[in-house]
Amino acid sequence: MSTTPVLPTPDEVGAFYDQVNHLLQRFLGGSMHYGYWHGPDDDSGFREASERFTSIMVDKLRVGPGDLVLDVGCGTGGPATQLARTTGARVVGISISAKDVELATARAAAEGVSDLVRFQRANALDLPFDAGAFDAALAFESIVHIPDRVAALRQIARVLKPGARLALTDAFQRGPEMTQADRFGLMKVLAAWRAAPLVGFDDYLDFAREAGFETEELSDVSANTKPTNAKVFEAIFDYVREHDDAPAGLVEIVDSVPHFGGELPVGEDDEEHEGVLVFVGTRRAG
Ligand SMILES: C[S@@+](CC[C@H](N)C(=O)[O-])C[C@H]1O[C@@H](n2cnc3c(N)ncnc32)[C@H](O)[C@@H]1O
Repeated sequence: MSTTPVLPTPDEVGAFYDQVNHLLQRFLGGSMHYGYWHGPDDDSGFREASERFTSIMVDKLRVGPGDLVLDVGCGTGGPATQLARTTGARVVGISISAKDVELATARAAAEGVSDLVRFQRANALDLPFDAGAFDAALAFESIVHIPDRVAALRQIARVLKPGARLALTDAFQRGPEMTQADRFGLMKVLAAWRAAPLVGFDDYLDFAREAGFETEELSDVSANTKPTNAKVFEAIFDYVREHDDAPAGLVEIVDSVPHFGGELPVGEDDEEHEGVLVFVGTRRAG
């Protein structure tokens, strides 16, 4: 039982989203990121919880009309269009998935914000922009696919102006000590999602320092995002059960669960091995 992590390449990540993005955005309330619930009594639907999390992340950037924001790993454009609509800032969204760019561009047109938002295919590890081109950056659940977090953060730091803010979410490892079987199960599920190995929560302080950011906030929002996983896995399971032509990427996710003891990889709060963090930093001068 090898627990050696599988490291996804950008091309593999792009091919995965090319196949599944239209369905994932449907299952995840319009975007492709966690929802944010205020607590166990919050019965908001997925769309509301998803837009709420976007709004929380957008507020952290403190941008307005005239600012230019980079959205790293923009998905199908939900966060970028919401950002432009609510702040008046301009946004350039990049994704390694050509299909993401197609859907995001159509969404911007449908929402009437094409004058503020544009999307292009690009690799976060090789950003095709000049140094200091952006006033802020958002990386909403995209860096989870990049094994070398510092390399990605360095690229973002390079294209930000000194003092500009970055807000991101990432998955981190938490919970009780993992058995060999837990590690194997988690590795299979992460591989199916083309996700990189989980990082440690405190690692972010070092990543930020190494990449040229001052940390302003590092918080654990796992309790708020918790309902997401069960809802998404259930939607994927239902879809695959009901559709013989379900994309291979979704079938692989379903097939990864038996390695998790046949249970959905979600448990009680203190049993879960995957948490969600929010990091906000400002680009150091020099
Ligand atoms: C979970 S989705 C999040 C999408 C979007 N940020 C949202 O919140 O709806 C991950 C996104 O990161 C993008 N991504 C992952 N690795 C990337 C890379 N190396 N370069 C560019 N985009 C990448 C994927 O193509 C996908 O759009």
